[in-house]
Amino acid sequence: MKRNPIGVFDSGIGGLTVLREITSLLPGESTIYFGDTARVPYGSKSRETIERYSFEIAAFLAKHDIKMLVAACNTASAFAVPGLARELAIPVLGVILPGARAAAQATRTGRVGVIGTEGTIKSGAYVSAIKAENPGVSAFVKACPLFVPLVEEGWAEDEITVKIAERYLAGLKEASIDTLVLGCTHYPLLKKTIASVMGDGVALIDSAASTAAEVKRTLAERGLLNDCVGAASHRFFVTDSPERFMVVGKRFFGDKLSEAGLAVLTEAQDAQKT
Ligand code: DGL
Repeated sequence: MKRNPIGVFDSGIGGLTVLREITSLLPGESTIYFGDTARVPYGSKSRETIERYSFEIAAFLAKHDIKMLVAACNTASAFAVPGLARELAIPVLGVILPGARAAAQATRTGRVGVIGTEGTIKSGAYVSAIKAENPGVSAFVKACPLFVPLVEEGWAEDEITVKIAERYLAGLKEASIDTLVLGCTHYPLLKKTIASVMGDGVALIDSAASTAAEVKRTLAERGLLNDCVGAASHRFFVTDSPERFMVVGKRFFGDKLSEAGLAVLTEAQDAQKT
């Protein structure tokens, strides 16, 4: 079991930011990444749809004998992780709890901002998780739907993106937050732009890094860390256009990205048999 891969899934390409952190913190672990590129974006879809998609993906990854499932997608973490954690026999981790915990620990003034997709923000998952960590924290939220396409276009630091960030983030600046959670897979690539708009006094919390640390802690706790010497393998599956995944994915994962296979999903019920 220790040698089995960690399954990581996302609505598409952005989850590679989480995979990158996991593989750099745990270089001995094998991974299987699943990007649902045929059905991206998840950020504007309903809870029911995201739950269904997530269970289908979990069923696919279960067939590859994963020892742990990581929802790298913030929207899937907000909507589907509680259900997946109840149904699957392996540990399931999303990006919300690690990010919320890191934010609650980082804030000095107790004023925390959260940005994400429409779905993530509407779900209230980050706010509940931050308040569960520290009920004294005031949380301020803002959905920033244009950030995802801007990053995928390669315009993370373009002047247009700075202008859009200024507009999205104005309310959070006014709220005098001292900590901002980057609650979406794509936002770590906007760190420079967001930092320039928010100013030096605001700490940016990258859920990807906190999630990798939590993956390590969870595996260690369950005796599942891979202590066998040998090359780790990294496999990639997508539901549409492996070619585009390779081109855009390099922006997120660098040259270590290897050929992705095309996945065909089947019934979600299979996930519950694991
Ligand atoms: N992966 C999604 C998230 O982190 C962003 C892209 C999408 O909307 O599917 O919420």
